[in-house]
Parts: sequence; C-alpha cells; structure tokens
Amino acid sequence: MDYQGILDEVMAAVWPLIGQGRVANYIPALAAVDPNRFGMALATVDGDLFGVGDWRVPFSIQSISKVFTLALTLARDGDDVWRRVGKEPSGNPFNSLVQLEYEQGIPRNPFINAGALVITDRLLQLTGDARGVLRDFLRAESGNPALDFDPVVAVSEAEHGHRNAALAHFMASYGNIENPVAEVLEHYFWQCSLAASCADLARACGFLARHGQRADGERLLTRSQAKQVNAIMLTCGTYDAAGEFAYRVGLPGKSGVGGGIIAVIPNRCGLCVWSPGLDARGNSVAGVEALDRFTTLTGLSVF
Ligand code: DON
Repeated sequence: MDYQGILDEVMAAVWPLIGQGRVANYIPALAAVDPNRFGMALATVDGDLFGVGDWRVPFSIQSISKVFTLALTLARDGDDVWRRVGKEPSGNPFNSLVQLEYEQGIPRNPFINAGALVITDRLLQLTGDARGVLRDFLRAESGNPALDFDPVVAVSEAEHGHRNAALAHFMASYGNIENPVAEVLEHYFWQCSLAASCADLARACGFLARHGQRADGERLLTRSQAKQVNAIMLTCGTYDAAGEFAYRVGLPGKSGVGGGIIAVIPNRCGLCVWSPGLDARGNSVAGVEALDRFTTLTGLSVF
C-alpha cells in the first residue's frame, strides 16, 4: 500500500479543519501552542516509517501516556490490576468526579484521569519510579533517546492540578491509592508532560500492533493482554466521545489534550496524528478527521 501517498491525501483533505477547535488552555504552556500545526505518522510493524506535515515536532503527549502506563502495569501485575480499576466506558468527561462516589472509589476505566491515577499509583509501587519507567520505555520503543519531560508543563500541571488532587484524595479515602497522594500526583503530572512527536508515538504504540511484542522482539504483553489494551482504547480511549470515534475511525485510539491521538491497526501499523485544536470533549478536531479519512480511504479498520 502507498502509505506516503495516502498520508499526503489525508493532509490535503483535512487542511480546511486545521486551526479549528480550541487549544487546551488550562495551563499557559499548552495555551501557547500554535493551533495551525498538523502532523501525522505511520510506523509499520516491520519498521518502516512515513509522515506528513509536522510529524517530527514534539508535542505534549498528555493522556496518551495512559496507554503506556496501563501496558507497563498490566505487564507486571496481570489481572490483579482490574481489582482497582474497571474496564467500562464512563460516558463522562475525562476529569469527572461524579461516578467515583457511587462506585466506591473504583474508577470506570484506566483512561479517565481517576483510573490513570490508580495505574500510576500501582506502577509507582511496582517500580519505585513510574515516570522514569515510562520515559525509558518510550525512548526504547520510539528509538529516540532525546524524548523527555517538559518541566514547564509538569510544574504548571501541578500548579493547576486541584481536580486531579481531588480525585486522588477521594480514591485514597476509599483505600484505592497506596502511595502518598502527593507522590502519585507528581508522577502523574510528569508522565503527562512528556513531549514526543508523531513519529515517536507511531513507533511507540507498535507493540500493540505486534500483539504485545516490543520493537526489539522482547514480549511486553501476552497476545491476550495486547488485545485487552486495544479493546479498552476502542471503548474508552476518547472518553465521552468513544462511541463517535469508533463509529468514524473504527480503530483502537487514545487522545490527549495536547491534540495528539494514537491509533493501532493490529498486525499492520501504529498511527499518530497531532493538531492542537480540540473539540468540546477534548479530542483533536483535525486529528479525528484525519484518522476518519485514513480508514475510509484505505479500508483499514478493525471492522
Ligand atoms: O490530567 C489532566 O487533566 C491533563 N494533564 C491530561 C488530560 C488529558 O489529556 C485528557 N485527554 N483528553
């Protein structure tokens, strides 16, 4: 398949949408990003890489990090992880508090903020350094040793992190956070601050296209666990828009408020698209459209 030609065609098709939507403005470092950026990359399971636009420009990965922390935790903990977090779509915004009280401090899934905080807590317990383990994993899988945190974003997340702090304290009151809340929050804010490009992330999600096998051939997840992560991305990866995303794109995907979205075509490739303008539910406007166009043009989806 002519992936480069297809990416060129996708970019031309979404051109009018680039700059639409609103750039995340809850911290100054994200609000300052140029809304007119657009990049898209595709990394095949055999190691070929294609891209268009700003595909080599690093951006704030934000909630995309939640896929990798889940995988790293699942690899170490197996099914035990599901005692502390569910696998159902929440139907609520990513930072919502409302379900936690009537569901006794057990978050609906690992991709809403509450669930991601539980996963970070567990990864911290298992490794002693959740954010470091995540950064090293992303460096290894992307092949980019320069991939790193953005300290300005991390510090700013902490300064504006009242809602995440509320979620973590609330879950701690139910006994669902094991480490000191301040430490969990610190690791979570730093994990969200990682900066990576579309090229980096398309490569880094390759293990999910390879049924759990890492870039060096080592196995991170069992085939069944890789299926589980992909399934949760499909049903929960874009929050209260997961139904719409599955309908339009038909792939496991995970978005972040930095405007990035990763998507996986099992057996074939990892994809990443980035454009900072977000819709009302926190997903990149041009990014979702680009993935929609990609699967429509190629006929490649999981359905
Ligand atoms: O914790 C937060 O709210 C942000 N650091 C990340 C949220 C995010 O990316 C949600 N995604 N759409």
